[in-house]
Formats: sequence, C-alpha cells, structure tokens
Amino acid sequence: MNENLLVAMEGIGKRFGENWVNKNVDFSLKSGEIHALLGENGAGKSTLMNILAGVYKQDAGEMMLHGKKVILSSPKDAISNGVGMIHQHFKLVENLTASENIILGYQKGLFLNKKKIEKDIRDFSGKYGLSIDPSDYVYHMSVGEKQRIEILKALYRGADILILDEPTAVLTPQEIKELFDILRKMAASGCGIIIITHKMREVMELADRITVLRKGVRVGTVLKSQVDEKELTEMMVGKPISEKKIKDRKEGKEIGLSIENITIHNDKGIAALKNVSFQVKKGEIVGIAGISGNGQKELAEGIAGLRKMEEGAIKIEGEGVGGKTVRQIIDMGLSFVPEDRIGTGLVGSMDLTDNLILKDYRKEKRRKGFFIQKKKIREEAKKVVEQFDIKIADIDAPISSLSGGNLQKILLGREILEDPKVLIAAYPVRGLDIATTEAVYDLLLKQRDGGCAVLFISEDLEHILRLSDRIVVLEGGTVTGIVKPGETTMDEIGMMMLSGQVG
Ligand SMILES: Nc1ncnc2c1ncn2[C@@H]1O[C@H](COP(=O)(O)OP(=O)(O)OP(=O)(O)O)[C@@H](O)[C@H]1O
Ligand SMILES: [Mg+2]
Repeated sequence: MNENLLVAMEGIGKRFGENWVNKNVDFSLKSGEIHALLGENGAGKSTLMNILAGVYKQDAGEMMLHGKKVILSSPKDAISNGVGMIHQHFKLVENLTASENIILGYQKGLFLNKKKIEKDIRDFSGKYGLSIDPSDYVYHMSVGEKQRIEILKALYRGADILILDEPTAVLTPQEIKELFDILRKMAASGCGIIIITHKMREVMELADRITVLRKGVRVGTVLKSQVDEKELTEMMVGKPISEKKIKDRKEGKEIGLSIENITIHNDKGIAALKNVSFQVKKGEIVGIAGISGNGQKELAEGIAGLRKMEEGAIKIEGEGVGGKTVRQIIDMGLSFVPEDRIGTGLVGSMDLTDNLILKDYRKEKRRKGFFIQKKKIREEAKKVVEQFDIKIADIDAPISSLSGGNLQKILLGREILEDPKVLIAAYPVRGLDIATTEAVYDLLLKQRDGGCAVLFISEDLEHILRLSDRIVVLEGGTVTGIVKPGETTMDEIGMMMLSGQVG
C-alpha cells in the first residue's frame, strides 16, 4: 500500500436515471500532488468530484481515503475523512462575517469564543498566505476573498484533500496568481489538491499529473512533464481541434453604440469610469481589453441600464438610454451577456424553453393574442441546444441538472437568439470548453456580419486580438488607448493595460 496515497477511486460509476455520466473511472491523488481534472463540458468532472466529496453516492466502484476503504453518505462524512470541496458556485452566507461563515454548522459547543476563532483563522491564513479579515462581512468581499474563505473553511475542518471546481473562472489574473501560490504552499505541506479547469495554460503551469475524462470515461492519466497542450486537447475532444482563421475585418460606417463622456460610480460610490468615450459601429466587434475590475462591469451595466450614469450619454443607434428602464433598453435592441451569469435570470426548476422566454415574454414577437407561443419558442430552444451542443437528455426537464458549462451556454444562447442591434458579451467563454469556445466566437462573428454592433469584454489578449476589429484599452476607469489588431502587439496592449500602475 502506497503510504502517500490520499485518494484511490476504482471503477467508479454514476448514473442519473438511465444516463451513466461516470463509467468505470479510476482516479488517485498523492500527498503533495496537484492533480488537474480535464474534460469537455458535461464530461462528468463535477460529478466525479461530488462523489469524492460525499455529495453523490456512486452506483459502482470503490473508494479509499488515506488507505482505508470508505463509504461516504454525506458531505459531513467526506469532511471527517479530510475531503474539502470548493464548488463551482460558492455557498457562503452574504450577511455573515468571514469567521461566522467558516464555523457555520461546525462549532460543537454552545458558546462561541469569537476571539479564539478569529485567532485560529488568522494563524491558518498566515501559514498559507490566505489574506482575509475574519471580522469582515462577506457581502463586502471580492470574489477572490470569498474563495479564500471557502478554502479556509475546508482547512479549518481539517481537510488535507482539497477539490477546487473551476476556481479561476471568476478571478482576476492577480487573484489567480495568489491562489496558485496558496495551492503550491498547501501541496508543499503535504495536502493533495485536485483542480478542475478549462484553461490549458493553468494546467501546464500548476499541475503535476493530469486526468482527462471524455463522456464519463477516463481517457488517460499523464504526467504534466510528458504532454503538451495540443496532446491534452486531443485527449479531451477525441480529435485535433484548430482555431478558425478570421478574415474579412470590416470597416463599418453607421454607429450602433455610442459612449459619450460617461462617468459611472461603482458600488462604493467611487468613479469606476471617468469621462469615457468610444463608439461601436454596426458590423464591428470592439474588444475591451483590460484587467477586470478596471471599469468593465460598470461600463456594461451602464449600457444595460442596470447602473446609473453620473455624467455623459450612451446611445443605441442614436437614441439615448439615459432615464430608460432595463426593459425599455432591451426593447431598443440590446442584448447583454453579463459577467455574473449564475443568478442572473436562470431558474433552475424551469425547463429550457421557459428559461429562454423568461427575459422577453412581453415582446410582441413572442405573443399571439394574450398567450405566449410556447411551441415556437420550444423550436428555438431546440436550435440553441443544437448550435451550442448543449448536453441535455430531455429538453423539457428542469435545467438544474445541467453541467456548469451547459448552463452558461443556455444564457449565451438566449441573448444571441434575440438578433440584437447591440450585443454586449462580458467574458462569454468563461467555463466553456475549447470546442464550445470556438462555437461562441463563431456566433459573435455571425452577429457582426449580420450588422450587429458587438462589444466584447475579455481578459484574454490572444482572444481579443483574434476577434476584435478595434480594441479599446481600459485602465483605472479611463481609456488608455484605441488600437487596431493589425497595427499593434500584445506587448503594446499590455503596457496600456498597466499604464497607470507603472508610471
Ligand atoms: N443532478 C443531476 N441530474 C441529472 N443529470 C445530471 C445531474 N448532475 C449532472 N448531470 C449530468 O451529468 C453530466 C455530467 O455533468 P457534470 O456536471 O459532471 O459535467 P462537468 O464535466 O463538470 O461539465 P462542466 O465543464 O460543464 O462543468 C451532464 O450531462 C449533466 O447534465
Ligand atoms: Mg462542472
């Protein structure tokens, strides 16, 4: 028996109804190891890890933790066996403090020694570099801080097996760097780390070993040192995948979206955008480059009418959005794929068709007399499923059972179906696998070619350069440059993204 083996899963099978989503999967984790779990949307990654974390019970196979056979019947069971999982979507209580969240449901005695708990938490944070203020309320916190609380919560309960399900999807580059430092420190002190991610670069940077799942089956487990990104992609998809060449950069004439000297405040009442101006023409993709947190969110929300402007004007085809309701702006032809897609309008207990009409049930084109044309929309739902290759067993089933990436696809599909005049896509490929990423980009280009003005917000400079007709660089709430992809370099844009911080 290998002493260093923290986890040994053998022949794991899991089915939902008749659908086997894990088939005969072997998986192991050693002490001190960072093990990446890869696979396309719906491949069964979260399901396998939910079994390890006691959320689901396997229908076949066995599991050993720390060399002992275990049968886990709840997350509590898993925790007492040293397994902690940070889920794709956090489960913190917003109106409690960090330390209250960490001990929630855990404290055994009647009396809480707040000072002692806060000291324990500070000690833990110090050890791994997890900086948080234990007495601060969660609703004040950035996504990065919330994630650190989740990690602390697991550590506080004694976890030495930590599972992170797509932890970087919502982090800024700086936060990702901090997280990776923390994970390396934890591994160095003997923990085992499992990380699920769609970002190949992160896998190559962080992982020691890699396991790839495809359609619920383990395709292979390899040492990072023995593979490259291309080979991993082929293992995931089952065939080589190539980026489509993008040609025909268009020089539009008519203006679709006009941003005129706008100033918008963030939640704290500080100017997040200062006197920003630029335009997006019809038939053009304008990429917003910048480290997230530099005004992107406020810009998108300002256009969509979700946030008030202090100064300036925003116009869709010449008509101002100022003073209009969100509903009215949608009717003017705006579609918005927001950054925070979970919790923005998907209802888990409803089926796909109902979710698709949720947003625009009031629109004339969806109505016939007083009732909604459900049949027509069901056809559209089928189209979304096809176009985005959504893995859904039954189109009439509630969507709560979809995988994380497939949920994202539904939201995107809903917005793009609208045939908008202006489309804002904020980080549209977050959480999506490689093939779907290409499909989404294809759709953005189709919208552009159909005359839509597309605003594409992303942190990934490679993607920005590939897709955009023009690039607006945001830094510290101001525009630090407007450039064309053919006339600039990644380095040059990088400099503009940091200009305020270097100077
Ligand atoms: N509670 C459930 N009921 C029914 N089907 C489910 C349930 N949970 C997951 N599934 C199905 O199992 C399959 C695998 O889902 P899983 O969430 O494990 O995928 P994933 O690899 O994590 O994908 P993603 O990268 O999109 O997060 C999907 O087809 C999903 O629809
Ligand atoms: Mg998942």
